[in-house]
Order: sequence, then structure tokens, then C-alpha cells
Amino acid sequence: MAILFNHETQVFTLQTLNSAYQMKVAEYGVLLHLYYGRRIDDCDLSYLIQRTDRGFCGNPYEMRQDRTFSLDYFPQEYSCFGIGDYRADCVKIINADGSCAVDYRYRSYQIKKGKYTLDGLPALYAEEEQGETLIIEMEDHHTGMKLELYYGIIEGSDVITRAAKIINGGEREAVVKRAMSMCLDFNHDNLDWVHFYGKHTMERELERSRVIHGRQSIGSERGTSSHQHNPFVILCDPMCTEDSGDCYGAGLVYSGSFLAETEVDQFHQTRLVMGISPDQFTWMLNPGESFQTPEAVMIYSGNGFTDLSHKFHRMVSSHLLRGPWARKRRPVLINNWEATYFNFNGEKLIHIAEAAKELGIEMLVLDDGWFGKRDSDYTGLGDWEVNETKLGGTLKGLAERINGLGMKFGIWVEPEMISEDSNLYRCHPNWAMRIPGRPGNIARNQFVLDFSRPEVVDGIQDMIFKILDEVNIEYIKWDFNRSISNYFSAVLPSGRQGEIGYRYMLGLYRFLENLVSRYPHILLESCSGGGGRFDFGMLYYSPQIWCSDNTDAVERLKIQYGTTFGYPVSSIGSHVSATPNHQTGRITPLETRATVAMAGTFGYELDLSILNDEEKEIIKRQVKEYKEHYNLINRGDYYRLSSPYGKCRAVAWAFVSPDQEECLFCGVMTCLQSNPDGTIIKLKGLNPKKTYQVGEQVYTGEALMYGGILLPVPKEEYQSWRYEIKAVK
Ligand code: GLA
Repeated sequence: MAILFNHETQVFTLQTLNSAYQMKVAEYGVLLHLYYGRRIDDCDLSYLIQRTDRGFCGNPYEMRQDRTFSLDYFPQEYSCFGIGDYRADCVKIINADGSCAVDYRYRSYQIKKGKYTLDGLPALYAEEEQGETLIIEMEDHHTGMKLELYYGIIEGSDVITRAAKIINGGEREAVVKRAMSMCLDFNHDNLDWVHFYGKHTMERELERSRVIHGRQSIGSERGTSSHQHNPFVILCDPMCTEDSGDCYGAGLVYSGSFLAETEVDQFHQTRLVMGISPDQFTWMLNPGESFQTPEAVMIYSGNGFTDLSHKFHRMVSSHLLRGPWARKRRPVLINNWEATYFNFNGEKLIHIAEAAKELGIEMLVLDDGWFGKRDSDYTGLGDWEVNETKLGGTLKGLAERINGLGMKFGIWVEPEMISEDSNLYRCHPNWAMRIPGRPGNIARNQFVLDFSRPEVVDGIQDMIFKILDEVNIEYIKWDFNRSISNYFSAVLPSGRQGEIGYRYMLGLYRFLENLVSRYPHILLESCSGGGGRFDFGMLYYSPQIWCSDNTDAVERLKIQYGTTFGYPVSSIGSHVSATPNHQTGRITPLETRATVAMAGTFGYELDLSILNDEEKEIIKRQVKEYKEHYNLINRGDYYRLSSPYGKCRAVAWAFVSPDQEECLFCGVMTCLQSNPDGTIIKLKGLNPKKTYQVGEQVYTGEALMYGGILLPVPKEEYQSWRYEIKAVK
């Protein structure tokens, strides 16, 4: 039993293999948060709450003479705005009389076998015997507003999920102004918070700082989770390292605008809340209607970041990714974007495919430019009709020729967008989100389609499904190349315009769900100008995400390093591109580009038809090597061995098989020196008592992990290595 309820103490204890989470129904039904951390059995940790009369800390009215019970500093399970908790809150409701307050008190609970699902929203899944659900029902007795708090426990994976449903059980309308997915209170402020910020072509850089008094937040108003901040954060002990210390990871299973906020209060206690960004959000609730927040997923580890990351990686692989491609080996691909940009025709694509086939590459992906009048990024989005003049034939014919070479074929689409210069815009100008009377904000010369409208989603879906029905397409790259602004829907009343962001996500998720269920054989890779929508929500539909438009191997070291804290290598879209690199101008060895791309889904994105023989030989070997190591890379445990932010002159990582028999140890030397110091990297995850072969040498696991490996002196800039390490029988 993973969920315990003690009737005497009114304490709920949720247990996973290595963690526990506790809350208590206190006086008058106030739901207090008591604990999250190392696994404990049933007990009542409410004695840790300081009960004292504190100035300017009000008390619920029922307490009358007892001035020691205050929502102003008691830890809360789901903090309500307007009733005396002034900290970052979870729920803010404007009632029909204009007052802004909601006072949720405990009513009842239900425990169910299996993990809950959410209508229309992505959520973790588990086999019935692996998961359990707790639903806590709360009510505001003054207005009849109800609340259901959902907790999903996947015991064996140390996963606890949360979501909330707000139900108008009253007789008058109400407006939800803020509805967070999770709240986590700590009774101290001895915490760092780690988050991942960035920009287009430089996503998920790691930042670590102390939590501070007052509120500190990251988030996105862009309608996507964004390049700028990722909806995955870690709170940890300031001493926490890769290998030791308490840490709490929290992520949203949502791809739209979000907020993650910490607050250290006046008594040095810390709160973390996470959910939909409240800034552009309102939701009108008529009597009987409900609003469902997206899901948040939380994992605790007492053993540092590596263990936390491994738990998130397993959570993604076992409880989030779906469909055949979640487990099947994915093809090594060639994408024509950096090879040709818009400048291609059918013959050019065939030349690239022929060259690719010779090298062992298994799929050609035709990127932007094959549809409508799309020879640049000024036109054509929305016109999902094949440009047969450009291709010199039909798409079906092209796919057949590629299939004839023994290769799979995939295409790029950007279904959520519309160019002003498109037939779609000329027919349906109000399908584009634009605020009437304002010219609006244009980006990459395109507008965003109003996916909050079902008929818009259906219209685009019909066009794209028609192509998928006719042509043997086995892969789709689903892109999204601007941030949303101009939030306005031509069909929603003024009081509901604040609902667009969330309704948009429901429209997008419905389309994606239809796509994956109708075409389960298609491998979906999502993308938003690279990694602008790299989140657990998108991973529910697409097992891989193009990690960044930056294909520079050296900058990728940071991008991929940051990404691995929350996301598995099997989800990280990564390609070898040409040098000088198109984004940075940097020159790196071909082997180094492959070393970095192999810490991801692995593919190529350069003109293979113009390679010399030596380059062809190298690539052939790389493709073969990646296929041989596929299971180790994609199913093994991933270890970050040195940080791109540290002093070390090498960035190193390793993949270790679950049975510790095999390891692939990789890295890049990031700095050349004259008269160089020795660079030693310590391996992780091996069996200390086993003996391993590295090249010609044999070492004990202990020697490799506690002593380390001395790297050879680099002979050229950005030299990389990939060492196979195998246990000696
Ligand atoms: C985005 C993607 C690129 C490429 C272009 C095509 O920028 O991230 O990989 O597909 O769009 O326009």
C-alpha cells in the first residue's frame, strides 16, 4: 500500500520505494503539508510546526481565542488566496460578488488502484498494479466552490504526481485567476534552486542560486514552455552534488506558458509553486463546470543529482513515452535543412538519400519548403499541399523512390502557423490570432493559428492527414517557430479571452493525440526552433525533441548537459552538421561532432552528396558504432562526469549498462594548452569489484572510479574520445 491514512491522527502518508510525502487534516479541515523526503512510515510530523502567537499573522475565524493557528505561516498543501496566507498561492478565485477569496477545507478522500488520467491533457501512466491514486476533496462552505487534489503514486519509480480540479459547486458564476498544479512547503530555507534558462540556439543552461527572501520566479508567457526557461526545476541542499545530498525535482507535464515560483517567508520557510502562468490566464466557471490543471511530477532523491536524473529518465521512459517508438530502435536519419535550406528539388533529395544509404543511414527527413509557395520563410505556412513543381513530381513518388533505396521517409510540418501570404490566410484571416484594430506582432513573418478553436485544428488536421493517408511517411518533425503574442480569439466572448492559452494547448494536444493514435507507426519529433518546447507534455506525444537549432558541437555540450538533468538521452534530438558550423562559425573535427550527437538521437544534417571518400569512411564507421551501442546509449544509465561550467579542460560523460558489464565513456577536450596538465576523469556506475578492459589495458572498476582515467594529451582543438569499456569475463 503506497497510500496510508491514519484515521486517528488524520495524517496521509504517501510512500514510494525511497521517498515519502505527508499531509494532515488539521483543525476545521485545514489541509497542512507536513513532509517530503526520505521514506518514513506512518507517523505524525505535525509536531514540527511552531504554534505560537505571531504578530500580524491572522487566524481563521473559528480559532477565536487561539492565536497560535495561522495560515500566514503554517505549511499548506494547496494555498488559497484571500484568506490570510500572503505567500505565493495556488488558487485565486473571483466570486460572483466581486470578492477574491476561496477557503478550501477538507471534506473527504478516495484511494483508487492505478494512476489517474486527465481528460485532454498529457499525464504519466502506470500499470494498475504499479500506480495508486489519492483524491482529496475540499470545499469552500461559503460559495460551494469545490476542489479535488489528485496525487498519483508510482511507488517503484519514486514518482509522485499532482494535479488539481476546481469545480463550481455553487449557484453563481466564478472566475479562476490562478490555478497551480503543485505546492511544496519546506520548514527551512537551507535550499538552492537549480533551473535551466536560455535563448534560441542556447537552451537549458544551468543556473544555481540560493532561494531568497521574497519571491523568485522563472516561467514563460510565450504560449510555449520556451527556450528562455524550462518547466523543470530542482530544489536541493546547498551541499548537494552529483553524488550526494537531498534534492527535489519538479516538472510540469504541460507545454504552454508556465510559472515556477519560490518564496522564502518571514520565518525562513520556503515554498515552491508550479503551474500555468497566471498572467494571461482567467477561466470562467459557470455552476457545475470545472477546470483541470495540468499535471506536475515530483521526484525526491537523497543521493544527489545523478540519482535524481536517473529517476526522471526512467520515469520518462516507463511512464510518459508511448507507442512503438518509445522502445523500438529509432532510425539514424539525414535531415536536409542545413544541407539545402529551402533550395532543393526532388533530384537533389535523391542524391542526398543515395549518399546516405551508402553510409548506413536509414531515413531521409525532408524539412521545410516542400509545400505551398514556400521558397523562403515569408510565405506558404498553412497551405499543406505538396509543391509538385519544386519536387519535380508527387510527394508519394518521392517517398517511393526513397523507399526504393531501402530508406524510410519523413517530413517537416509546422501545423500551428500561418503566413500572411498564404491561401489559408486569404480564405480565413481570422484563423490567425490577431487583436482587432492592432497590427500585432509578427515573428519570422508568421502568425499563430487560433488552436483554441476546434474548427481551426480540424481544418489543418484534415489537410495534413490527407497527405499522411496518401504517402508512406514514417516520421514527422512537428515545428513551432515563434512565440505567441496577439492573444485573441475571434470567437470567444470578451470575458473568456483569458482562456485562450489553455484552450490552445487542449487543441494542440487533441491534434497530437489524433495523430499518434491514427498513425502509431509514425515517429514524431517535436521541435520549436530547436528546443523551445522541450517538456514532459510534448514527450507524451513525441518520444524525441529537436534539442536546439544550434548544432555546434561545443555549444551543444552545455545545452545537452543541462537537458539531461530532467530528460533522457533518448529524447534529445542531436545531429552532426557541417563545419564551419552554420550558427557559430566554429570548426570542430567530424569525430567530435559525432561524439556529441551520439549523446542523443543521432543523425546527420549536412550535404552528404558532396563528401570526400575519407569523410564517407568516417561517417560509415560512426553510424555502425552508434547502432552497435544503441541499447547502451538509450537504455543504459547516463552519467555526467564533468561539467561544462567547471574548471576541467574536458567535458565527459558515460553510459553504463544496467548489468555494469559495458560502458561507453565519451567526452570532448574543450581547451588546448602548451605544456599541459594531466586531465583525469573518474568513471561512475561501474562495479568496483569487476575488471574492465579499456583498449589494450585492463583496470579494476575501483581503479577507474576512484582513481580515474588519464586522458591522452590532445593533438588538435576540440578533440574527443569514445572509449568502449567492457567487463573482462
Ligand atoms: C526551425 C527548426 C529547424 C528547421 C527550420 C525550418 O528553425 O528548428 O530545424 O526545421 O525551422 O524552417
